[in-house]
Amino acid sequence: MKKIMIQDMPGAIGETVKLGVWLANKRSSGKIAFLQLRDGSGFVQGVIVKEEVGEELFATAKGLTQETSMYVTGVVKEDTRSSFGCELAITGIEVIHAAEDYPITPKEHGVEFLMDNRHLWLRSRKQHAIMKIRNEVIRATYEFFNNNGFVKIDPPILTGSAPEGTSELFQTKYFDEDAYLSQSGQLYMEAAAMALGKVFSFGPTFRAEKSKTRRHLIEFWMIEPEMAFVEFEENLEVQEQYVAYIVQSVLKNCKLELERLGRDTSKLENIQAPFPRITYDDAIKFLHDKGFTDIQWGDDFGAPHETAIAEHYDKPVFITCYPVGIKPFYMQPHPERDDVVLCADLIAPEGYGEIIGGSERIHDYDLLKQRIAEHKLDETAYAWYLELRKQGSVPHSGFGLGLERTVAWISGAEHVRESIPFPRLLNRLYP
Ligand code: 4AD
Ligand code: MG
Repeated sequence: MKKIMIQDMPGAIGETVKLGVWLANKRSSGKIAFLQLRDGSGFVQGVIVKEEVGEELFATAKGLTQETSMYVTGVVKEDTRSSFGCELAITGIEVIHAAEDYPITPKEHGVEFLMDNRHLWLRSRKQHAIMKIRNEVIRATYEFFNNNGFVKIDPPILTGSAPEGTSELFQTKYFDEDAYLSQSGQLYMEAAAMALGKVFSFGPTFRAEKSKTRRHLIEFWMIEPEMAFVEFEENLEVQEQYVAYIVQSVLKNCKLELERLGRDTSKLENIQAPFPRITYDDAIKFLHDKGFTDIQWGDDFGAPHETAIAEHYDKPVFITCYPVGIKPFYMQPHPERDDVVLCADLIAPEGYGEIIGGSERIHDYDLLKQRIAEHKLDETAYAWYLELRKQGSVPHSGFGLGLERTVAWISGAEHVRESIPFPRLLNRLYP
């Protein structure tokens, strides 16, 4: 007998097959039982009719506990009522392991309880769908950058420098030196761009940020492209094409998952380049017009500000040219103004906040040296980074996209804790 996976069932209508599954849920009457089965690749309904299978097998089916693992055999039947398109008419059940007192029952549970049981919660339909969407975003990311001439480069995780400011670093011992867990691979990616032209990284980053919001993780994954000979505006074009590409890929390849999450896909269909741009100056004016009196020129935006700006558009929006004082040391100044820099944050729609931070980088040696001093950074740790500006320095730009915020937005998840398998949060290192 053919052993297949649930995802391959639509191509096996009429065939008798065997599947390794877990029982997600069940309901039954005296004559018929409906088993909700899952195998990791998908979810399907199994139907078992007492008259057809006999007393003993029917009793086994009725006695199955939630999350029991088993092999089932049966005939694949077309089922036009379900969006998956088929179900299994069960003819045999071989229990592998009977689960006991599975803690996550079909009733509602509180979030802290679910987070304590994250190792099991991952099995549920909604979490399964979000992980599949995360996987599709990762797949489409590699595809996009490979199709566009980028080389994947892996920057180190243990580092001696702090690209995004020194207050949010995880410090650790590196034999008898101090080291930090990477908060961004950017500086190394700049060196790599001078060697390979267009590069991208994809890896974990760490921020010892005492933030407890639905957008903040302590450990998150970032995609960081860096491009030699690319200036500010060209950098934005790559970003909008990339973000549109991943959204369209999810729409195309994760239809069932988006439906299971109840995601309003009309909002995603609209995500096509180009995206609107608004300067920081105009964003401040806009907020004042909307009645936000708490923010002044020179302040960074909080979540309510970003949300108010984003609500004005039906696509992600670039906020460009922030004040030099609220951005990292490496950003290229505006050619006509010394109070703002050539940077942009991309704000996602629907209140998901900043998903990309990017900029043109300083390529002038003296200016960069001055900025390192102004930010009170230890120049010896940045000697190699400065030296890049002495050896054929060129204009270059890049950005970092936060994977979890992007996945949360595309899947419509409330909180980034649901868009990473095992979230590290301010008060959570378990499981
Ligand atoms: O804006 P950030 O801090 O930019 C950088 O790290 C640059 N060095 C990137 C670059 O130009 N190569 O972070 C980039 C993105 C943010 O827009 C956000 O999506 C995500 O990373 N991010 C976080 N995601 C979850 N939890 C956190 N604590 C995050 N901090 C940043
Ligand atoms: Mg940022």
